[in-house]
Amino acid sequence: MSTAYLNGEYLPLDQAKISPLDRGFLFGDGIYEVIPYYSGKSVGLIPHIQRMINGLAEIEINCDKTLDQWKVLLDDLIAQNDGDNQNLGVYVHVSRGTDSIRNHAYPIDVAPTIFCFTFAIKDPEPVNREIATTYTVTTTQDLRWKRCHIKSTALLGNVIHYQQGHASGNNECLLYNEQNELTEGSSVNAFIVKDGVISTPIQDNQILPGITRRIIIDSIKADGSLKLEERTITMEEVHNADEVWISSSSKEIAPIVAIDGNNVGDGKIGPIWEKAFAIYTAAKFTHS
Ligand code: PDD
Repeated sequence: MSTAYLNGEYLPLDQAKISPLDRGFLFGDGIYEVIPYYSGKSVGLIPHIQRMINGLAEIEINCDKTLDQWKVLLDDLIAQNDGDNQNLGVYVHVSRGTDSIRNHAYPIDVAPTIFCFTFAIKDPEPVNREIATTYTVTTTQDLRWKRCHIKSTALLGNVIHYQQGHASGNNECLLYNEQNELTEGSSVNAFIVKDGVISTPIQDNQILPGITRRIIIDSIKADGSLKLEERTITMEEVHNADEVWISSSSKEIAPIVAIDGNNVGDGKIGPIWEKAFAIYTAAKFTHS
């Protein structure tokens, strides 16, 4: 049984209990993070913590932990779960806390609930387009809310979209807005490649500021050998792209070979994915 952290205490995961009056349970009123550690080495730890601190401030949850205190807590939890010898994700969840009644208004003087646990994640893919895992997606209109930049624990909108892809045997569901423009996937950011140029939607309230997305953009720009643009992307462009990728902390950069049952390009992983994934892989542990 893995060791979890709940409100200052380390304990076996199956012994961690919270009240049904917790606002995370009643309202999905909280912020979360998922941070990957490969053999004890984290990817994007500081930006992940900073994104959580920003999200907590935006929804006015008063959590007094500093960035350094979070870092110590998470590194410690990984160490307690034998993180040096395996690949682990750490899930971090801060809800507004447990009230004594159910009331929509933010309660006063209620301490946030802080819950963290680790789980096994898969090895990184080989940087080789002949043998790397391929993914397929469906598409649908993005019917989530207008605050997708906040990493809210209220994920029902995302869950419904994810299930749309999953139920038809696909790995994800790509989303588009009312203008038929790509936003992201239900649990991933998205990229396309056309004529050697990589494009990804601009960062606004329609997408999560993904840490993997950020590392991809920064490392590719620093490397300088590939061209990358942040811009509006129509679904027509997605369907006509040479390559399509999705990114997240658990999938890193995952190549899409079919959309709605139609091949992307020639239906195989493309050469720009391999170059971009090599650049990302070389940079990911140094990004902060
Ligand atoms: N999902 N967009 C959405 C809607 C997400 O939920 C996620 C992450 C991403 C990618 O963000 P990052 O690169 O920081 O992981 C984009 C996580 C992994 C999850 O919910 O499990």
